[in-house]
Amino acid sequence: MTKLREEEQRIMDHLGDLGIHVQVNLDSMELPLAGSDAQSFGLALIRCLSQKSAMNRSRLLELAGLDTVNSTRAITICTNKIHQAIVFEKFGVPQPHFKIAFTPAKLFAALQAYGDLCVIKPATSSWGRGIARITGKDCLEGWIAARESVDPGHQSFPVLVQEYVEKGDYDIRVVIVGRTPIVAFRRVSTENWKTNTHLGADIELLTMNDEILAICERLVDVLGEGIYGADLFFDYKHLRYVVCEVNQNPEFAKSWKIHGVDVASHIAHYVRDVLGRENRVNCTTKS
Ligand SMILES: Nc1ncnc2c1ncn2[C@@H]1O[C@H](COP(=O)(O)OP(=O)(O)O)[C@@H](O)[C@H]1O
Ligand SMILES: [Mg+2]
Repeated sequence: MTKLREEEQRIMDHLGDLGIHVQVNLDSMELPLAGSDAQSFGLALIRCLSQKSAMNRSRLLELAGLDTVNSTRAITICTNKIHQAIVFEKFGVPQPHFKIAFTPAKLFAALQAYGDLCVIKPATSSWGRGIARITGKDCLEGWIAARESVDPGHQSFPVLVQEYVEKGDYDIRVVIVGRTPIVAFRRVSTENWKTNTHLGADIELLTMNDEILAICERLVDVLGEGIYGADLFFDYKHLRYVVCEVNQNPEFAKSWKIHGVDVASHIAHYVRDVLGRENRVNCTTKS
């Protein structure tokens, strides 16, 4: 983990209650990779804030012989919006129509294809950062010009271009632990088309219907079981649910106090299940 936030503390408390010994390894510390060091752990639960750190660390731990939650493959896909789009297309996960633009010039064709309204996303970002709604050619020219001044070599390409989904004033966050969608809530914002809670959206508990459950099952089939925050839209134009993105390290410190589902407890129980399933001998129990 990067630091011991409320989320991590709660997970640790629950793991402790289940008799599971936890050793904290901060991003600033050495990773226990050498043979016997690595072998003395049952499982690595990755809780890094930086997507890059999460990926690098899970990869090294996996190479050293440890199982990680989430898997390196899942983290690699989830930390890159372009990877996600490609994988979801391959496996038929419903998502907004998209194009991958490798040059600024290609953005104009994409904008036109989506009726002069689209969303541009950097491949790696979170908390709504760098996500731009483009409302016409002038707007796109402004976006390109602003970018050119800081990135004249277009190093930040390719970018993901999506159709703008008429989603009302909310999106839907589903928290998945293991294979199970444990809670869903609407993130509602009347002020901002970006409905990240980080940007001030309100949380409203939502009962999951069969369509949402089916999408989550499909996501777990594609990504493997793990801990995910899946962001869905209900597309009011095409009357269907689509996946906006899947996060590999969902935050829950604020939201669980509103919806009341103890995500940390679900994570701790899932970790116990995985350890038990694989019949690990290194998981030290108190009792
Ligand atoms: N194609 C889209 N159509 C409409 N709204 C979108 C679209 N893509 C993203 N948004 C809005 O922007 C927010 C942030 O986009 P997202 O892809 O989830 O990036 P981040 O990783 O920064 O959360 C979403 O929660 C949603 O409210
Ligand atoms: Mg998001």
